[in-house]
Amino acid sequence: MSPFDDVKHLMKGRTIARIVYDAATIAARVRELGREIGAAYPDGDLLVLGLLKGSFIFLSDLVRQIPRPLQVDFLVVSSYGNDTVSSGVVKLVYDPATVLEGKHILLVEDIIDSGRTLNRLLEELGERRPESLEICALLDKRLARDLRKPAKFVGFDAPSEFLVGYGLDHAEDFRSLPFVASLAD
Ligand code: IMP
Ligand code: MG
Repeated sequence: MSPFDDVKHLMKGRTIARIVYDAATIAARVRELGREIGAAYPDGDLLVLGLLKGSFIFLSDLVRQIPRPLQVDFLVVSSYGNDTVSSGVVKLVYDPATVLEGKHILLVEDIIDSGRTLNRLLEELGERRPESLEICALLDKRLARDLRKPAKFVGFDAPSEFLVGYGLDHAEDFRSLPFVASLAD
C-alpha cells in the first residue's frame, strides 16, 4: 500500500515521487499570506489579477483569506515550447478590459521558474499606470535572477523539480490534485 494510492485514479498511469507540500501545509501558508497581503494594502483599490490557468486554485483560496475589499480578474498567458521547460516566448492571449490605472495590482502566479512570463507581463501592465504592481507566487524556484521585480509575497521556495497539483499541470494533467507533488520519471 503506497501513501499515494488514494489519488491513483487521478494519475493516468503516472507515479508520484513525493508530496512536496501537502494540503494542510498549503492551507496554513495561504492563510498567512492572506493576512500579510491584507496588512500590506491599508487603503486604495486592490485588484487581484490571476494568471490562468495555473493560479486558479491558489487564487480562489487566497482571496478568501485577504481581510479587505478587493476585486478579481484574470489574464491568460501562453508560453510555447515543450511541457517542462519554459521557452521564453510569452504570448498574452487575453487582456482584461478592467481599468488598472490608479489601482493596486497584485499579480498572482502559480510558480516562478525562469521569470520570463512575469518580466513580459510587468512591462505590459506597468504601462497602464497602476498605483502599484506586485507579484504573489505560490512557489518560487529562486532561479529567476533577471526578474525585473522579485515577488513580494511567496508561499514557498520550491525545489528545482517539476511540480504538479494544486493548479500546476504537466501537459494540462494533474491540476486537480489537492497537494503539490513531484512526478516520478
Ligand atoms: P517562467 O516564465 O519560466 O517563470 O515559467 C513560469 C510558468 O511555467 C508557470 O506559470 C508554469 O505554468 C510553468 N512552470 C514552471 N515550472 C513549473 C513546474 O515545476 N510545474 C508546472 N509548471 C511549471
Ligand atoms: Mg503551465
